[in-house]
Amino acid sequence: MKRKKKIALLTAGGDCPGLNAALRGVGKAAILEYGMEVIGIRDGFSGLINMDFLQLNEEKLSGILTKGGTILGTSREKPFKESKYHDFIKSKPEIIQENYDKLGLDCIVCLGGNGTQKTADKLSALGLNVIGLPKTIDNDVWATDLSFGFDSALNIATEAIDRIHTTANSHRRIMVVEIMGHNAGWLTLYSGIAGGGDLILIPEIPYNEKTIISYLEDRAEKGKPYSIVVVAEGIKKPENKKAATYIAELINKTSDLEARETILGYIQRGGSPSPADRVLATRLGAAAAESISDGHFGIMVAIQNNNTVRVPLKDVAGKLKTVPSDMLLLERARQIGTSFGDC
Ligand code: F6P
Repeated sequence: MKRKKKIALLTAGGDCPGLNAALRGVGKAAILEYGMEVIGIRDGFSGLINMDFLQLNEEKLSGILTKGGTILGTSREKPFKESKYHDFIKSKPEIIQENYDKLGLDCIVCLGGNGTQKTADKLSALGLNVIGLPKTIDNDVWATDLSFGFDSALNIATEAIDRIHTTANSHRRIMVVEIMGHNAGWLTLYSGIAGGGDLILIPEIPYNEKTIISYLEDRAEKGKPYSIVVVAEGIKKPENKKAATYIAELINKTSDLEARETILGYIQRGGSPSPADRVLATRLGAAAAESISDGHFGIMVAIQNNNTVRVPLKDVAGKLKTVPSDMLLLERARQIGTSFGDC
């Protein structure tokens, strides 16, 4: 009789909505379609070092589709960052290799963003069977059109900007809203456009302070009672200042306009995944199980042109997907009067 394949799932890096939907997708397909045994590793790569895991069966994977966060917990442990604790103790990658064998694993599925795909690639280079799945609200994972978590965060950020509009109007203020995204502007760009932001600042487009002020003053002179500025956390600014604080202070100091800032923060990563993220996570998860069954490892399952595809981890690792400066969406936004603070 053929030996049952045994696989481990882990979630690493910052959490986001859709992680549980993806765990359910891989786990259920692995158990029901391919007859595999599935375990969950707690707290990302830490659990792989500390042998902290639990058995995942159909019951454990039921009822989690709509839940935010991750039932496995997560951490920002990077096992390759420091090669040795001491000269006489094994390195973390060596411990992981040993634990992989002790657990009798046939594959580890790593759900995470850029850092996680990089670690997954390094583990794969050590000879472990590894598959990556792209999650992040930042949408900056290379080689995939979308990552789960992005759509949910986009919904949250857009709703917040919608709410900011009414108070901005009542007080005739400039409201500066700060959106997450690390060094990429996807979430700011999309929520800025969806929320009708007047000025959108993203890390990919260098801004000019004078342009920002004259654009906002011009709107006020034209009788617009308020303006909404949507700013990415990753824009150029002094290190000790939050992006929204810096821009609001700039407006208050150098114009007669009154500005206030709102930093959305972790609310963007919390709560139930959107329907689109549930579907995406389920598709990617089940496709990962299929890849394991085919014996195809060292890949990340991605979405390209609405198809699930397998991309070599070595082609993903270490790359960042940022907003291209020639993206047509930027031009469309400019056509309706949106400013990116650049000219
Ligand atoms: O990568 C997701 C993200 O939420 C970024 O948008 C943000 O910069 C970062 O994680 C925050 O990370 P932490 O959870 O370590 O504070």
